[in-house]
Order: sequence, then structure tokens, then C-alpha cells
Amino acid sequence: MPEYDVILEHVDKTFDGDVRAVIDFNAEIVKGEFVAMLGPSGCGKTTTLRMIGGLEEVTAGKIFIAGQDVTDLPPSHRDTAMMFQSFALFPHRTVFQNVEFSLKMKGVAPDERARHVWEMLEMVGLADFSGRRPSDLSGGQQQRVALARALISRPTVLLLDEPLGALDYNLRQTMMVELKKIQRETGITFIMVTHSQQEAMSMADKVIVMSDSVIQQIGTSREIHENPRTKFVAEFIGNNNLFPGVIKSRSGSIIFVEFNDNLLYVKAPEDLRDVPVGREIHFSVRADLMHAGDHPDMANRIEGSYVTTEFMGTLETDVFEVAPGVYVHVEQHRKVTDHVYGMGDRETICWAAEAGVILE
Ligand SMILES: Nc1ncnc2c1ncn2[C@@H]1O[C@H](COP(=O)(O)OP(=O)(O)O)[C@@H](O)[C@H]1O
Ligand SMILES: [Mg+2]
Repeated sequence: MPEYDVILEHVDKTFDGDVRAVIDFNAEIVKGEFVAMLGPSGCGKTTTLRMIGGLEEVTAGKIFIAGQDVTDLPPSHRDTAMMFQSFALFPHRTVFQNVEFSLKMKGVAPDERARHVWEMLEMVGLADFSGRRPSDLSGGQQQRVALARALISRPTVLLLDEPLGALDYNLRQTMMVELKKIQRETGITFIMVTHSQQEAMSMADKVIVMSDSVIQQIGTSREIHENPRTKFVAEFIGNNNLFPGVIKSRSGSIIFVEFNDNLLYVKAPEDLRDVPVGREIHFSVRADLMHAGDHPDMANRIEGSYVTTEFMGTLETDVFEVAPGVYVHVEQHRKVTDHVYGMGDRETICWAAEAGVILE
């Protein structure tokens, strides 16, 4: 049985004025895991994080940290530390003093304090900057100070609220790798809030996708990428093609779905094999599993007209309109010799029955 560092049981939060910010939140977070809470602005991520840290009371439900019921305990009794987007450093103290702060509060002896501070500064690569004040540091360096300061007391859980939100693109890419590395080195459980699917998917062992105050799905990045459970997740995770349709018939594990006069084949998971004929459903197909041009080995084909191409390094996504207002994204590694489309060109788009995922 895994050791859980954090457990949330039926946690609810209703603010004054009947704002239901979090509804029936259930999650089990294993010791040493890097967890991301992912969702659009206003879905309840920060509120959940603050309830774990004790900065916000729960309206209902229970929270356990390292096996102890902390639901009614103040932040100081929870063995959590919090890192904010704004870093919240002490402007008049040096880097060393900022990092040292919580140990000093705890009454740790000066020698031992210094030893721990140097260790931390070493780890975040700031040993040469110990005498500077925050205003003389770059954004990335300030962020490392905030991280060192939060980690120095070796909390059971570090809570991070949009930690990379204030950084520009290049720095964010670097800090993603560094945060992950430091998490691995310390073995401390990280719970990070972000609205960026790239951050969540590239850093976290486990992603909790939220929308409108509820959990949509919990899984590894791969599970969420390959098997989105709901329409919301398929749309939010990006580069999924969503099809509405009606179940026409079935044959074993294959469901036949009618979409705009096309009969499409979708492989259904066990638990969805009894969904009745006539039911309206949605299914999704990843853009990288779609192919332009006729592929006789694939069950599904649909006609579309070329609209545009989206460029992402060596990856390109060609967009085709397959029904009025319905666009299909086809992702491919483009070679110089590949066909270049003109606006309105007709093309056949194919995919395998196995590529389709039925959504709840
Ligand atoms: N102190 C508060 N009082 C009233 N409503 C709040 C308060 N804090 C957050 N909310 C509301 O709760 C919902 C969730 O907010 P929040 O957890 O900050 O979302 P997120 O971090 O996902 O953007 C929002 O509708 C927000 O307006
Ligand atoms: Mg927030």
C-alpha cells in the first residue's frame, strides 16, 4: 500500500454569497509525487491549494497530511510550505537572510542554520549571490530564492501557486526542468497549481484536471493525453479533434457513429459497450493520429477542405473544414518534399478505429 502524504476527502468550499469554489474534491497524493492541479482561471485551484495549506477553511470534508487529520489545524501545524507567484521575498534582507528566515524563527542554532542555507543555495545555484538583495536579482533568480526559502524547513508538502507565471517564455522552459530536478533531489511532495497544460504535462507525475469547481480527471500525463475522459479534458488538453455523433449500430467492440452523413468507426472500451443505439455522444481523435491523404489500411475517412497550417517547430498542423464550422487538425512532421496545400483544396483525412476515444 502506498504511503499517502495528502488525502482530500469530499472537500467543499463555499464562499460568502454562495460562491461554490470547490465541490466534492477527492484525491490521494503519494509521498514524493509531483502533482499538478490544472484548469482554467476561476475553476477552484488556488482555493484547493490554500485549503491544503490551512490558509482557507474547508466548508465540508476532511484533509489529511502524512496520516494526520489536519482539517482544523492552523497552517503552522501542518508541515506544508507555500510558494507564491509573486515570490513574496523580504526586500530589505539579503538572499542568505531570506532563505534563513524560517529556521531562525524555529530557533535553530546559527551554525546549523548556515550549513542548511549554504546547502540550499548550492542546490538552487545561488551560492555566489548570497549577499545580494532581491531587487538586484533577475526574475529567475528571485524565484530560486523563493524556492530555497520554502524548502529549507524540509516541509512534507510544498504548495506552489502558478510558480512560473511571472517568468518569460525561455526562463519558464529552464525553470520547468530545474523545478522537476529539485523535486526529485529532495523527494518532497510538490502540489503545483497551473493553468498551463504544457507545464502540468511536462512536470507532473500526476495531473488533476479541474473545471467549474469539480475534478474532471486524475491521471498521469500520458493517461490524460491518450485517454481523455470528458469533453472538457479533450478540449482543454489540446490538439484533440472532437466529433459529435449518434450511435447507429455496433459490432462487438466497434461502435458505428454517424457524423454529418459519414459513418465513423470507434473502438469502444469495455464499460461503454452497452451505450444504446440512438444515443448522442462525443468522441475525440488526437491530431497526431490523423493522416492526410487516402490510407486504405485505416477504417475512417472523411473529406475536408484546407483552411490553414499552424507551425510549431518541425511539427505542423494542417486544419481542414469537414462540415460547416467543424475543423479537423492533422499534425505531422513536415518534410521539404511534402505537399503544400492551397486554401480550399479538397483532401481525404483518415484515422484508425482504435484512435477514437469515446467521451463521457
Ligand atoms: N475570498 C474569496 N471570496 C469569494 N469568492 C472567492 C474568494 N476566493 C476565490 N473566490 C472565487 O472562487 C472561485 C475559484 O477561485 P480560485 O480558487 O482562485 O480559482 P483559480 O485558482 O482556479 O483561478 C472563483 O469564482 C473566485 O472568484
Ligand atoms: Mg489561482
